[in-house]
Amino acid sequence: QISEAEVALFSVSSYACQRRTTLDNHNSNLTDALSLLAENAELSNEDGRGVAFRRAAALLKALPTQVISMSQLRGLPCLGEHSLRVIKDVLENGVSSEVESTKQSKRYKALKILTGIFGVGAKTADRWIREGIYNLEQLRDSGQTLNRAQKAGLEHYDDLNEPVTKAEADAIGEIVQKAVNSVLPGSEVALTGGFRRGKLTGHDVDFLITHPEEGKEVGLMPKVVAWLESQGFLLYQKTTRNSYLESKDGPARPASNMDRFERCFSIFKLTKRKEQETASHKIWRAVRVDLVVSPISQFAFAVLGWTGSKLFERELRRWAGHEKNMSLSSHALFDNTQNKYLRATSEEEIFAYLGLEYIPPSERNA
Ligand code: GTP
Ligand code: MN
Ligand code: MN
Repeated sequence: QISEAEVALFSVSSYACQRRTTLDNHNSNLTDALSLLAENAELSNEDGRGVAFRRAAALLKALPTQVISMSQLRGLPCLGEHSLRVIKDVLENGVSSEVESTKQSKRYKALKILTGIFGVGAKTADRWIREGIYNLEQLRDSGQTLNRAQKAGLEHYDDLNEPVTKAEADAIGEIVQKAVNSVLPGSEVALTGGFRRGKLTGHDVDFLITHPEEGKEVGLMPKVVAWLESQGFLLYQKTTRNSYLESKDGPARPASNMDRFERCFSIFKLTKRKEQETASHKIWRAVRVDLVVSPISQFAFAVLGWTGSKLFERELRRWAGHEKNMSLSSHALFDNTQNKYLRATSEEEIFAYLGLEYIPPSERNA
């Protein structure tokens, strides 16, 4: 029996970008439950609910010790009624009944399987489920028309659902470095995404490419892709302009040279090292790789924007907008009060403009 006075109380900032969140999570029993409900909400097009569960999970990830009693959570931000109910259930019963019934539901299982195909989002999966497609076999038998991405996704399904290791990420990094150096010497490659935050595995590998001389990076992506293709490193690639900001977040002001930002979604063919060869004798495996080219003038913003985590990024933008009257994107920071862009050459400068203590990548695992 623990008395009220003995219970450790936490004091935690309400924005995830004000907190240091390492990979050392003391409450994974609770955050796993909330993350599953977040994922289920996102897959069901209930983004508001999804964010609420993500925020609650992120808050618990930042706590220095394991929560053992509901009374410890009193006064903490980010914990809505629904999240508290889930937490209470886990603390009292070891599991959340809502999580358990979600996991077992036919719909959730199908959504997981179908969105596990590269190129298939919640909308497509939902349409297929309504047509009675719940698994890969039914999908193959259905005669549904698949686009190029989905075909590649289905073909490499097992490989792409196998987590990518840091060693594999490094091996791909060397290939990307070689490609970039071959087509434009002096270019720089930075590892971003989860691996930059110190994660040991990931669902893909993310790279940002730039050149120290502004403008030299123009037209770089097609050349890099052509080099990789000629060397047989690509199983799939699609190069697009980065329209992420317009479609998902809508910056208050478009960055002037937005159209220079190119992104390549790809699937690499990575040759396995001897000891990784499996019984199937397949000597290579498919790995998802994201490549982004940024002009040097936007590089700091791009690095910050592509390092994640997704919630950390979302919270940075919310902080900028709500607390500082600024608009942050992966291209720029605009101060709506002074009506001007704020230049930065490092992430530290961007945090300083935002009036935030600098949080290194390894502590952005919100
Ligand atoms: P895993 O890959 O699952 O290990 O996690 P991750 O954190 O690396 O996630 P992901 O590769 O999906 O994304 C990496 C970062 O890039 C995250 O912070 C995302 O918010 C960001 N990101 C992903 N897609 C886009 C995009 O289209 N535009 C921009 N600007 N950022 C993106
Ligand atoms: Mn990633
Ligand atoms: Mn990615």
